[in-house]
Amino acid sequence: MHASADALVLGPSRVIVSGWDGLGLVIDGPADGTPSNYLDAVFDDASARETFFSLVDTHGLVVCKNLDLNPEPYRFVGGTRGKGKLSQGEYFHHDGCSTPIKPRINEIRCPDQPATRTMLTSIAPFPDVVTAMLMELPTFWMRDERLRRWRETAQADEAVGVDPAVMQGRLNQAIRALNPEDARAFFMAVDRRIGAYAQPWALRESRFMANDNPMVTVQHRRACYPPCEPGTPNGHLLKRWPAEELPPPH
Ligand SMILES: [Fe+2]
Repeated sequence: MHASADALVLGPSRVIVSGWDGLGLVIDGPADGTPSNYLDAVFDDASARETFFSLVDTHGLVVCKNLDLNPEPYRFVGGTRGKGKLSQGEYFHHDGCSTPIKPRINEIRCPDQPATRTMLTSIAPFPDVVTAMLMELPTFWMRDERLRRWRETAQADEAVGVDPAVMQGRLNQAIRALNPEDARAFFMAVDRRIGAYAQPWALRESRFMANDNPMVTVQHRRACYPPCEPGTPNGHLLKRWPAEELPPPH
């Protein structure tokens, strides 16, 4: 696999890389814009599969557009918009954090379907997103000594020296005390500060996220902006863990 200025060779396929300069690597797909299953042959070959997964590990996020893939073994992404409070999926999280297996890569896919997917999925680098959360925390939370100390340390560009997952847990507790509108505004500000990938979904788009590696991982969350009107049709998403769930390569 190798890349030139605008093209990338994935196994037997040559695909176009977008000029996107934000978080992640965005692949527009085949040069003629016609959707194709350009990752099937990559996943079928052990070496090409590992090279693709390494690309995800390196960039944190690889977005593949105009991608037709076999619908197996995807699962529906669950979760609803919480009434009166944010649902769990609206907080930044790694995938599989409550299961014994933490998958190496989490793929979320917007399949071809009649309804537009209006809700966004925001994707941000971890643990930087925790620092962004500390910075955007409403001032009144500075009455909490730990949060104040962590923020002052981060503002001084010093290492806080606390497990980011522990800090995020405390931050999430604080955010739960906000009303949903303020909590969603908070996360929107975090998205802006961190430069999260929160682009609208296209049909036949898959996002491959580094979820567990010692290099660059990302977290994701369901983002409700612009505000979602209850009852508005909203396309669904699918997911799978390609490193663990795809059939073994040849
Ligand atoms: Fe998730």
